[in-house]
Amino acid sequence: MSILATLRERFRPVLLSLVDSVDDLLEMIRPAQDARFGDYQANLAMPLAKQLRQSPQEVAQRIVDSLQVDDLCERPEVAGKGFINLRLRCDWLVARLEQAVRDERLGIPRVAAPRTIVVDYSSPNVAKAMHVGHIRSTVIGDAIYRTLQFVGHHVISDNHLGDWGTQFGMIIYGYKHFVAEPAYRAQPVRELGRLYKLVQQLIDYHAAVRELPERERQLGDQQAHVAAQRDAHQAHPQDKKLGKILRDAQQQVAETAAKCDELRGKIAAVEHDPQLAALAREHADIERAVLDQTARLHAGDLENLALWHEFLPLCKADMRRIYDRLGITFDHELGESFYHDRLAAVVQDLTARDLARTSDGAVCVFLPEYDTPMIIRKQDGAFLYATTDLATIQYRMEQWQPDEMLYVVDHRQGEHFGKLFATARLWGYDQVTLRHISFGTVLGEDGRPYRTRSGEVVGLEGLLDEAIRRAHAVVADNDDSKPGGPELSAEQRQEIAQTVGHAALKYADLSHNRTSDYVFSYDKMVALEGNTATYMQYSYARTQSIFQRGNVQVETLRTAGHRILLTQDAERDLALELVQFGDALDKSLEDYRPNVLTAYLFSLATKFSRFYQQCDVLRAESEAVRHSRLVLCDLTGRTIRQGLALLGIGVIDKM
Ligand code: ARG
Repeated sequence: MSILATLRERFRPVLLSLVDSVDDLLEMIRPAQDARFGDYQANLAMPLAKQLRQSPQEVAQRIVDSLQVDDLCERPEVAGKGFINLRLRCDWLVARLEQAVRDERLGIPRVAAPRTIVVDYSSPNVAKAMHVGHIRSTVIGDAIYRTLQFVGHHVISDNHLGDWGTQFGMIIYGYKHFVAEPAYRAQPVRELGRLYKLVQQLIDYHAAVRELPERERQLGDQQAHVAAQRDAHQAHPQDKKLGKILRDAQQQVAETAAKCDELRGKIAAVEHDPQLAALAREHADIERAVLDQTARLHAGDLENLALWHEFLPLCKADMRRIYDRLGITFDHELGESFYHDRLAAVVQDLTARDLARTSDGAVCVFLPEYDTPMIIRKQDGAFLYATTDLATIQYRMEQWQPDEMLYVVDHRQGEHFGKLFATARLWGYDQVTLRHISFGTVLGEDGRPYRTRSGEVVGLEGLLDEAIRRAHAVVADNDDSKPGGPELSAEQRQEIAQTVGHAALKYADLSHNRTSDYVFSYDKMVALEGNTATYMQYSYARTQSIFQRGNVQVETLRTAGHRILLTQDAERDLALELVQFGDALDKSLEDYRPNVLTAYLFSLATKFSRFYQQCDVLRAESEAVRHSRLVLCDLTGRTIRQGLALLGIGVIDKM
């Protein structure tokens, strides 16, 4: 059990002797913000005091009097307005660390009650190249998977590929009308990618032509509204409400104007290119035609099915290349197509149970908590994304009986999952915990979704290449500036740059709170300083270089039974951080936030750096201190390596 969990368990009986409900109170036991107040602090006497009609100090004292923590803490202190300060005993810290030295799991026990958890992540739509948006789901999902597995849960990863949707109708249509045979033979996936983009562009063009007049009319109305509001505001300049109305109206104008510009851009891109313009004229009905190709595929049309069987393995192999680079594997890759044959039965079953009914020709599930229903079959008979997701839940429950299913998908699908989970519960899947692990958008330095200069979404592969290029520069620079001259061969530099570059990209993503948007920056992510993978890898390499310089056999070091001596503050700080690895894992899994783990690792590396500056390791004052410090270096290195491994990131011995 982690320290925090242990402390909470010690407080529990004491609090239960005072009040009935204690879970919220237990949450108020936390690591101390300031070392002067000990290692952990409990702020629960204040709220309790109100309930018990006593002073917080009295309540805190009552708690401390019956709290049994002598084995791990020094005497608890009541401070200020009833804060309870707890400081771990040095001998306890040392015993913990010495146990970690001998244990390949660093003293982290497996959970007592393992759960079966399905993690649905990455799940790109096949047929389009993976782009920057996919990195978040892939990397966050992978980190959650690895961490859950490490603490002992039974975890099943499933890449719910979009391999059956409209995107296939698009490439089938593109292939039938626009394929360049030689290009397809030479580089099939690239040509399919081109076809996908071309079809998308033509669809967007026609949609823009249709939409623009309406938008322009809207813009005109909004501008007139602004003019009227401006007059009103000028007549009553003090009126705050009018000022706010004016600003909101101006904001609307700006948004609609931007939308009009975007539409005009799409139109111009086609019309300024005579070839594209001709294609657009010839394929005026392309949007409907693409849906028709998709419908035919779903209905089992032999030609389309054959094309699908031809395209899918090509697309998958292409994705596999990126996954291999990133070191990502899945237990299952059951894409949408896998569920096709189950969809009709899902709709039938929900209808038979009176959970779904026909409305305007579509079959819908009406949910009290939502204004709009969840549609599970369209008027034309087509099934939807939601239908497939229901079939998927059913299948996973039958196959694996999970206790929990996690969907690592971007926040824009929040409503879809809200409705999906509500429907699943009505359908009888109310024992399983269904959770949308949502995440924000990757932004460019301009604060808008990350794109290339030409406005295209950035492909994942190009991103990786660029990260490696930048990492190479940092590695070479660092090597060149070594006091004794460069130490790495060209191949070594290249190899290190690969590990560092991939790590940088993953870590940058993981170190941001998943629910916020974050700004993508190559420079920041490969920087040698700050909370970056490069810094973490550098810290690890530093621990290894100590052993190398001191000619230390780590295996012997671990088995020799050296005593750990915590004489300096910096040593104790490092020791405390090391034993808090378990706390960090618990907290990271509480709400599935890998950034809790990166923050922990960064803090550990910072403590290590201070320890290393203040305490001589190889030239320590005595053999005993030298051994103790070497053991601390080893534990630090192992904890960093283990922590990074849980994030899917590798280490290097030498940088
Ligand atoms: N393919 C979907 C997309 O790219 C994500 C799928 C997420 N998983 C799920 N079970 N719905 O938007």
